[in-house]
Amino acid sequence: MSNDPTAALIRVTGLSKSFGTSGGQVDVLRGIDLDIHRGERVAVVGSSGAGKTTFMHILGGLDRPTSGGVVFEDRDVFSLKGVELDAFRNQAVGFVFQFHQLLPEFSALENVMMPALIARKSRQDASGIARKLLHEVGLEHRLSHKPGQLSGGEQQRVAIARALVMGPKLLLADEPTGNLDSRTTDEIYRLLNHLHESRGLTMVIVTHSESLASRLDRIVCMEDGRIRDSF
Ligand SMILES: Nc1ncnc2c1ncn2[C@@H]1O[C@H](COP(=O)(O)OP(=O)(O)O)[C@@H](O)[C@H]1O
Ligand SMILES: [Mg+2]
Repeated sequence: MSNDPTAALIRVTGLSKSFGTSGGQVDVLRGIDLDIHRGERVAVVGSSGAGKTTFMHILGGLDRPTSGGVVFEDRDVFSLKGVELDAFRNQAVGFVFQFHQLLPEFSALENVMMPALIARKSRQDASGIARKLLHEVGLEHRLSHKPGQLSGGEQQRVAIARALVMGPKLLLADEPTGNLDSRTTDEIYRLLNHLHESRGLTMVIVTHSESLASRLDRIVCMEDGRIRDSF
């Protein structure tokens, strides 16, 4: 099956997640099955509290499911341990958050270099890749700016460049345009689309923007911890 080019890049089966709280157990994900194909652009939509962020964190190996699993290519993500799981998070997946989560004390260039430095690439290599990516996202003139000196759209471009610095196959973005106006949302969409076309990137994007969602390949609607609809 791993040699089948039409096989899913990611196969999610029976995924559940519960949190124990002082008020009792909260069942946030209640049995999610989803195949995501290579090069596919999937929008995830659903009202606040539906479980979208929890789902994205588990897809990216940032959190563990209570039951069920995620197979990425032929790796069962949650059977990976320690360094292997760290490597999966660092190399296979790029993450873009709603609030960019850039490090405020570091320049745009340093922020983008960070995952490569963590992966023990040389400063020279990390800087080379980061500069190229910042150029690709249209920020070659903002290398030494700190996040606070950039507009919201520029900050998200830096976050996108940072997500791509290790050359992931999958880009996960959780409401990347949640704080942006419609024109900037459109620019970010065009950038993501360019990256999809130039490198065949598979993307899962949580969004409240109907115009963004409708331009992707598939829309997955989440409701109350389940997938209500996929079309
Ligand atoms: N660490 C946690 N502990 C307890 N409840 C949580 C935790 N994380 C998320 N939840 C709950 O899970 C539900 C879904 O959250 P989330 O995945 O952030 O939804 P969405 O991104 O769709 O708004 C919410 O009701 C939230 O309060
Ligand atoms: Mg969320």
